[in-house]
Amino acid sequence: MEQRRLGDSGLLVSAVGLGTNNFAGRLHDEAARMVLNEALEQGITFIDTADVYGGGSEEGSGGSESQLGRLLAGRRARFIIATKFGFPMGDSPLERGASRRWIVAEVENSLRRLRTDYIDLYQVHTPDAETPIDETLRALDDLVRSGKVRYVGHSNFAAWQIADADWTARTEHLARPISAQMHYNLLVRGIQAEVIPACVAHGLGIIPYFPLESGFLTGKYKPGGEGHGRLSESARAGGVMSPANFERIAGLERFATERGHSLLDLAFGWLLSQPIVSSVIASASTPDQVRANVAAAEWRLTAPELESVAAL
Ligand SMILES: NC(=O)c1ccc[n+]([C@@H]2O[C@H](COP(=O)([O-])OP(=O)(O)OC[C@H]3O[C@@H](n4cnc5c(N)ncnc54)[C@H](OP(=O)(O)O)[C@@H]3O)[C@@H](O)[C@H]2O)c1
Repeated sequence: MEQRRLGDSGLLVSAVGLGTNNFAGRLHDEAARMVLNEALEQGITFIDTADVYGGGSEEGSGGSESQLGRLLAGRRARFIIATKFGFPMGDSPLERGASRRWIVAEVENSLRRLRTDYIDLYQVHTPDAETPIDETLRALDDLVRSGKVRYVGHSNFAAWQIADADWTARTEHLARPISAQMHYNLLVRGIQAEVIPACVAHGLGIIPYFPLESGFLTGKYKPGGEGHGRLSESARAGGVMSPANFERIAGLERFATERGHSLLDLAFGWLLSQPIVSSVIASASTPDQVRANVAAAEWRLTAPELESVAAL
């Protein structure tokens, strides 16, 4: 498995990672154990979760971290664990956001659920307009200094917020964010205009989320309703499975097939052909999907091929 540095940092992550927003909510312990074991077998060491994942399970929010904690027992050191905070963990306005108060409380909850004494990458899940960025960064820096957190990242920041956070961290001598987790895939390329240039300029690695557009870019969904999985059950189904998007993936699939590849190969290969992308963290429901995803991540597109995809 190829290892990539996360941004300008020294942290190495596997080029294919594993997202776990389906852990606990959609996968019971035994199914999740099989997925995790196969990931390790395939060389995947980078695991992404969040405090809020696990909704729909008996455990509710926190379920994904708790399930991971149970499954990682005895082998935690073999993985790079990324988690996040910031989305509501309860009804109270005190249980969300990026204030010092919530960060210091919630990191303890995540450490307890994950059954670990350190988090490799602690990410601000979403910008908090109510909290000054220097307060957030100083609280995170304290966690880095105490050893509870190794590196800091964020998610869903606008380009100006990425620049602001980096500049604040630098001038205040605080731990600089090393990664930006963003919605990015063959069909959703909005970050190319401003967020990617900001990440290049400030030395952050991109961790694309929804890399398969929730399964749509595997090609298993067909016009007329064929194909079943979390996407067909989700509120996003209508928006993603539009006639225009079916047309677009037909063109992408043709492009891949003409070169002896599948749409899944293109979904992974296109992302990993961009040096700014550090790890592709697709979730998987089964060990077969893990194997397919790792096999799909081999293709590196040439510059002319990347230009053709941009035009499609
Ligand atoms: N930072 C953020 O705001 C944010 C937001 C969303 C997600 N994330 C992170 O990004 C990760 C990935 O996102 P995601 O899981 O929602 O979307 P995704 O990776 O685009 O789609 C994953 C889903 O596609 C299906 N799939 C995966 N591999 C397949 C294969 N080889 N063949 C057929 N189907 C396959 C599986 O669902 P089925 O088997 O049910 O079809 C799987 O759960 C999450 O786990 C989470 O860690 C972050």
